[in-house]
Amino acid sequence: MTTMTSHVALIGAGYWGKNYIRILGQMQQKGKIKFAGVFEADSKSRESLRFNYPDVRFVENLDLFLDDKTIDAFVIVTPASTHAKVIEQALNAGKNILVEKPLTVDTKSSQKCCELAKAKGLRLMVGHTFLFNSSVKELKKQVEDPEFGKMHYIHCKRTNLGPIRHDTSVIWDLAPHDISIILYLMQSFGKKLEKVSAVGSKTLGGKYEDTSWIHMMFEDNVVAQVHVSWLDPHKVRDVVVVSDKKRLAFDDMDGRQPVKIFMKGVEYVPGWGDQAKHLTVRDGDIHIPNITACEPLSEQFQHFLASIHDKSMKNASPGEFGVDVVAVLEAAEISMAKTGQAVSMAEVMGSQPSTGGCPHSEPKPRCERTGDIPLVDIQAAYKTVKPEVDAAVAKVFAAGCFIEGPDCKEFETEFAKYIGVKHCIGVNSGTDALYLAYRYLGLEAGDEIITQANTFIATCLGATTLGANIKLVDSEPATGQIDASKIEAAITKKTKIIVPVHLYGHAANMEAILAIAKKHKLKVVEDASQGHGAYFKDKRVGGFGDAGCFSFYPGKNLGAFGDGGALVTNDDALAARIRAWRAWGAVKKYHHTEKGGNSRLDTVQAAVLTCKLRKLDAGNARRREIADKYIAALKGVGDLSLPKSPPNTVSVWHLFVITTDKRDALLKHLNDNKIGAGIHYPLPIHKQECYKEELSSLVGTLPQAELEAPRMLSLPVFPEMTNVQQDRVIEQVKAFFKK
Ligand SMILES: Cc1ncc(COP(=O)(O)O)c(C=O)c1O
Repeated sequence: MTTMTSHVALIGAGYWGKNYIRILGQMQQKGKIKFAGVFEADSKSRESLRFNYPDVRFVENLDLFLDDKTIDAFVIVTPASTHAKVIEQALNAGKNILVEKPLTVDTKSSQKCCELAKAKGLRLMVGHTFLFNSSVKELKKQVEDPEFGKMHYIHCKRTNLGPIRHDTSVIWDLAPHDISIILYLMQSFGKKLEKVSAVGSKTLGGKYEDTSWIHMMFEDNVVAQVHVSWLDPHKVRDVVVVSDKKRLAFDDMDGRQPVKIFMKGVEYVPGWGDQAKHLTVRDGDIHIPNITACEPLSEQFQHFLASIHDKSMKNASPGEFGVDVVAVLEAAEISMAKTGQAVSMAEVMGSQPSTGGCPHSEPKPRCERTGDIPLVDIQAAYKTVKPEVDAAVAKVFAAGCFIEGPDCKEFETEFAKYIGVKHCIGVNSGTDALYLAYRYLGLEAGDEIITQANTFIATCLGATTLGANIKLVDSEPATGQIDASKIEAAITKKTKIIVPVHLYGHAANMEAILAIAKKHKLKVVEDASQGHGAYFKDKRVGGFGDAGCFSFYPGKNLGAFGDGGALVTNDDALAARIRAWRAWGAVKKYHHTEKGGNSRLDTVQAAVLTCKLRKLDAGNARRREIADKYIAALKGVGDLSLPKSPPNTVSVWHLFVITTDKRDALLKHLNDNKIGAGIHYPLPIHKQECYKEELSSLVGTLPQAELEAPRMLSLPVFPEMTNVQQDRVIEQVKAFFKK
């Protein structure tokens, strides 16, 4: 950057202009600029200004400044209706420009100003002063924090009784501030503004609206609203930003605590089910960040100066951003004339695409700061429950009750209620839950279980540990669920248990499976380790069979922060025996009725799980949103086959498994681009080394499982995944197939 001193003239000295006389005077005193003087066309104003500022030069002829080759910058503060003309003259005379908002009074002339500035290699900056306001900068910091969550809406209110203008509507006077704040905040989410509608009223009977409500519709149903009025008795300058995790409130009239961060929210109540969508208010803290006051107008001007001298510097509020704001105002004006009909931004912007609001920097996808996109983000999951979990864990430590105790009981009661069964017995893993279910449903050496070939090994281990044999059935394409139509053919005299696995978070066809089990007098154990909260018809999985087994491995939809598992059942006797077994077969301390083992759900994990259970439905709903977006965005891309939910089910998308012939190359491409992807699972059960001996005869008999294993790939899906992260995954998958 050079240390050149700019020679600056002020064009216009109305209401705002006086502030600039002060700022430019201060800058001159500090030796940062030479203040060339003020052009003011109105003679009366000029005379009174001369009286108030005897040291400042005032001119009545703009040409004096236009022709002065020593002046390199203009600050333009004339009425907006004159901006287009003055900007054109100034650019043609080689001046850099800081122009007060709005850039001009229509999109086309604003775009022309930008084109001219570009052609001349000069700066054109628009004075959206709020972008330099410390409170708005705090809002920006908050929305860029990954813990901010999913943006829902922004609401702005700017009202007071007068001063009322007679040359324009209230939207051009008051709304540019809020529109600039909204575009500035929304830019962090990379969402395009699609439509604007507005209604206004000419309450005073004048030519222009004195009160208006503007509605801005962004991609993905995010909305922003601006209410402006000259007639409200209250002077209000309010901005409220609402996400699924936080609510930010900025009150510019509150000098002491202008920004408040509400950690409150609205959540699903566990136990009611997604369909019921029962909501409750989550109470949380209110944080008041320390805001250091600054003078935005002065900061804005200094930024302008710096950007004149450093041509490589990104301007915070370039002309293009000013065009975006003007386009919203123009769309709102058109909409008001059509009594609120929505106006598409594409219509207003014409062939010039919106910059999406690009102040301060290039759009900064939030994932850039968090680094890589993992397959599952356990740290992000922790952050979303940190206050509750930290408190719950601290409580366990304070009580010193680390084995069983009230926390375990609470979780077991809550989870049984959630699944809709009588009993939940916490154990130390999903693997143990399956083993215990098999054992206490009477599986013995030589018996058989029927399950699917494409499952995780733990589905089978408990059975073979007991000396039983595995009969494998193929899976359905797309859903990955056990093909119920093939189960009966696998039943022999030795078959005892059918084990459907609600793989990938989909529900197996429980109606068909229960009917087969009933007909052949077989038991059913559901491996629901990937299906927490999934529905078959109107009931959650895990509650259909004789027993349902869950894993709470950290990466699961309901994941602990360590190992954990549970068995759920309506069978009192089964529950009692497993409860005894998990504590060395004791029904009473040191009185052992079973030759049991030690497999209890850790108390600390139980406390964690109770907190996380309360967020499970909301997390599953977000997973569905992510899956829906993947399905819409990746349809028809390359040779991809996309997953789908089976009929009559509500999936919880533990995994989003796609298939392609180019699996390995796609996996490498994603990993090279710092995107985590997984394979679930690379080998079907009968091809696993440990089962080779007993199951090798099945090779070639399970075509679907064998065909899919080398073609499947799991894309990242987790509730905390941001839209920007998902867009990057989609973009990279598409880029791979374009190569
Ligand atoms: C389908 C399935 N069954 C069983 C298990 C075993 O659970 P755990 O890891 O808690 O032992 C898992 C998860 O790891 C699983 O995905």
